[in-house]
Amino acid sequence: MGMTSYCLVIKANGYTAHSANDINYLENNLICINKSGYIVKIYSPDDEAYCKVQSFALDNGLLYELKPGQYLLPGFIDLHIHAPQWVNMGKALDRPLEQWLQEYTFPLESRYADLNFAKENYQHLVHTLLANGTTTAVYFATIHREASIELGRICLALGQRALIGKVSMDDREFCPEYYRDDSSKSAIEETRLFINQLRELSGNEENRILPVITPRFVPTCTPELLAGLGELARETNCHVQTHCSESDWEHNFVISRYGITDSHVLNDFGLMTRKTILAHGNFITDDDMDLIRNRHSGIAHCPLSNFYFANCIFPLRIALNKNIHTGLGSDISAGYSPSIFEACRHAITASKALNDGVNSMLSNEKRGNQGSAITFKEAFWLATGGGGQVLDLPVGQLKEGFFFDAIVIDTNIFGSDIFIQNDDVPLDILQKIIYNTQRVNIIDVWVGGKKVMFNNKLDS
Ligand code: GUN
Ligand code: FE
Repeated sequence: MGMTSYCLVIKANGYTAHSANDINYLENNLICINKSGYIVKIYSPDDEAYCKVQSFALDNGLLYELKPGQYLLPGFIDLHIHAPQWVNMGKALDRPLEQWLQEYTFPLESRYADLNFAKENYQHLVHTLLANGTTTAVYFATIHREASIELGRICLALGQRALIGKVSMDDREFCPEYYRDDSSKSAIEETRLFINQLRELSGNEENRILPVITPRFVPTCTPELLAGLGELARETNCHVQTHCSESDWEHNFVISRYGITDSHVLNDFGLMTRKTILAHGNFITDDDMDLIRNRHSGIAHCPLSNFYFANCIFPLRIALNKNIHTGLGSDISAGYSPSIFEACRHAITASKALNDGVNSMLSNEKRGNQGSAITFKEAFWLATGGGGQVLDLPVGQLKEGFFFDAIVIDTNIFGSDIFIQNDDVPLDILQKIIYNTQRVNIIDVWVGGKKVMFNNKLDS
């Protein structure tokens, strides 16, 4: 095919992580994208064909060159976000999980029976996430099929890559009458319909949005429902998402109901697959970790939400050492920020707190959990390639064969909090980008080679 297949060539300085400890700085590279939105070739100035490709791109109007002070990154991936809870973001954080769900969250989510309410809120949410650099989002919607499909339509219209789950919850003890599936049978049937309907939405010919089987968490689901959804996962090969061992209450509730931990319950019902995303996993045991790794399932680490609801800090270092697929989630509205840059910072800060410990009344050797701290490089990996690995999709890296899902960070823009100095080496600049990027710095966003934001505005 060669050069004639290129539809877009980006000339940029940029960064990409190929693993937790392998960060690559791309200097003046040419990133060549085909009409299906994949990166087909990356040339560095040392490559023989570099000049020829650059001239070809220029002559054919395909070249987009970043300006000094601008850097290309893979788009960020939010592995766990509750779309309907957008309305509650930044409030109602004053109760433990089980009360927060009953008092604030279920009442809000039940309102998405109203399609107009859903449309308005989902539109604002998807736009805001794109503006914050989230090119792929993994959404919990609500129990309502119509509103969940509407979220899919909005992602297609605004250009975000998304994995979307219609939530399943049928347990009559835990779920209020006004917000639950009528029965396990109807929950399974509605999920099946949702999967087919979402896959076949017009505009989704390239599967930019994907359905996710979504048992909310073990406490809200009957065994019949979990079994049916496991069967559906096998049948449809869909992604699966749920919450796992999130808080003291939740973890112990599952042990008292089943005598085993969340991950084993999910596994017994066929819900632990290569494409399963477990939110939190804060209390997973060594044995749970082995199970998760052996199943090649993934974890959405939600560090901000964990400060409010988890009662502990996720043992991220141990998960990374065990090579468990891991990425980051905002967990809105249990987390109050839509930014995965913020999630990077909170992951680093949480790991530092775990490393050093937090109780000044304890002597320093008893206070912390030495070796727990993670680096900004590891956080960058989690936000990008790590998320892509969890999803088993070619996203999260600037690499041949991956989708061109990318963002441009402008460090010079008016109002920037990033301050680069002459003696900053490339890794210093990446570190400053991770710590200090704000929405104003994220000027361009592409998903699948298609520009969805330009100069900080939706490209419509
Ligand atoms: N567990 C079950 N549902 C939820 C939810 O909406 N948010 C969080 N953080 N945990 C949950
Ligand atoms: Fe959650």
